[in-house]
Amino acid sequence: MSRRYIAFEGIEGTGKSTVAARLAAHLEGHGCDVLFVREPGGSATGERIRRVLLDPEGTVAPWSEALLFAAARAQLAHEVVGPALAVDRWVVTDRSVYSSLAYQGAGRGLGVEQVRAVNAPGLGEVWPELVILLQLDAATGLARQEDADRIGAEGVLFQTAVGNAFAALAAAEPDRFVTVDAAQDIESVWRDVLASVEGRWPISSAG
Ligand code: TYD
Repeated sequence: MSRRYIAFEGIEGTGKSTVAARLAAHLEGHGCDVLFVREPGGSATGERIRRVLLDPEGTVAPWSEALLFAAARAQLAHEVVGPALAVDRWVVTDRSVYSSLAYQGAGRGLGVEQVRAVNAPGLGEVWPELVILLQLDAATGLARQEDADRIGAEGVLFQTAVGNAFAALAAAEPDRFVTVDAAQDIESVWRDVLASVEGRWPISSAG
């Protein structure tokens, strides 16, 4: 199984979706076989769960939220990401299990390890190898945010807790995480992202 599974993480407004899409396009432009997904979603079942999770009118209890994210992710791992890694494709994802650890584990206060424990069985070995954390302070991120979904509409204290949790996860897993300063201009962010990927895997001849 290929290990080239790259996740972009961060609080709201870091520009992570744009950079993730740019990386996927860049890899494709260099002849790499790339799967680009987003969480929650990325599979038919996952997209249905996404609608339940992010509906601004909806009510979802904290553990229900954590389990729905875990369910969408288990489906994605089983149906889409696992099979792609099995045939050596690159996988680039906009968010991953680490969002659940930070948002549900810390933001909702469910406990990072408890949330890890409910996600792990559905993922097995399908776990991001490189996590690129775009770091930004919560107030700046919220000011940049365009449309808030149900979770994105939580306030600055929630976002701060999530951001602190991401930083703690990066410190605890230094071989997996690269932290990029998302307050920089977009070309500098992109340069750092590319360097972090190239530092791990050669891109041009990667296939
Ligand atoms: P996303 O679609 O990435 O939106 P954005 O790019 O605007 O942040 O994520 C939707 C929301 O879901 C976002 O507020 C983060 C949240 N989220 C969790 O709370 N837990 C998770 O496990 C994931 C994947 C996302």
